[in-house]
Amino acid sequence: MTILTKKKIIIANWKLNGNLILIKNLLEKISLIPGYILKSIDLILLPPHVYLLEVKRNLFKKDEIYIGAQNIDKHFFGAYTGETSVLMLQDIGVKYVLIGHSERKKYHLESEKSISEKFKIVKSCNLIPILCIGETKKEKQLGQTEIICKKQIDEIFNLLEHKDETFNNSIIAYEPIWSIGTGQIPELKEINEIISFIKNYIKKKIFPKKVKNFFVIYGGSVNSNNVQRIFKKGGSDGLLVGAASLSHKDFSKIIYNSYYTNKKENI
Ligand code: PGA
Repeated sequence: MTILTKKKIIIANWKLNGNLILIKNLLEKISLIPGYILKSIDLILLPPHVYLLEVKRNLFKKDEIYIGAQNIDKHFFGAYTGETSVLMLQDIGVKYVLIGHSERKKYHLESEKSISEKFKIVKSCNLIPILCIGETKKEKQLGQTEIICKKQIDEIFNLLEHKDETFNNSIIAYEPIWSIGTGQIPELKEINEIISFIKNYIKKKIFPKKVKNFFVIYGGSVNSNNVQRIFKKGGSDGLLVGAASLSHKDFSKIIYNSYYTNKKENI
């Protein structure tokens, strides 16, 4: 099992974008980043399924960059045309699976129940789930951010049998829905507060047991200009980057800026 060991996690979610040229340009640009910077982060690329193997084949630092999938089916195999199974992902060396992205809920009508089932399947195969949670604009205005995150986390707890181990070896991406693709991000104070709320909620829920290898990252309109702001005061364990991960220049700048901000914050 892959266990995250580095200080910060940076995940590139390509969504329904990318092609062979993007893969070539992006990996070339990443290969120019000095080893000591790459070593200080866990870099995870989530291309569309059809490109997973191409990205994997072209990874120059196989121990420092990982591939992950943007979705899976909740069945292991069978008559489910057009789907991808966690077993297939495991077969080709995928370590991470994004689950519960708000775009899947919106455009593919994914329910909280099916998200929990997918989470369970990913865990059962010892892959690492990256669970997306977050509130809508309206819920934020009503002051319901914590309630919504709690509800989404509880859905997962309710389905898994070994509750105290539910979030071991996993990542939660706090992604306010109103922030995705809009250029708007919450105040730093808000990001840090909700991240610490999520961590404390899970801690309390499984007390006296302790959660192991569990990380909470921020996602939503991350770019090379706001990365310093997001990492200031060190609340977030990392970033889930959408649109900006498709620009090889912007994405490598995000990696550089993350490194230098975190270095400064740790002094
Ligand atoms: P964005 O997307 O960075 O384009 O806002 C983030 C995401 O949806 O994962």
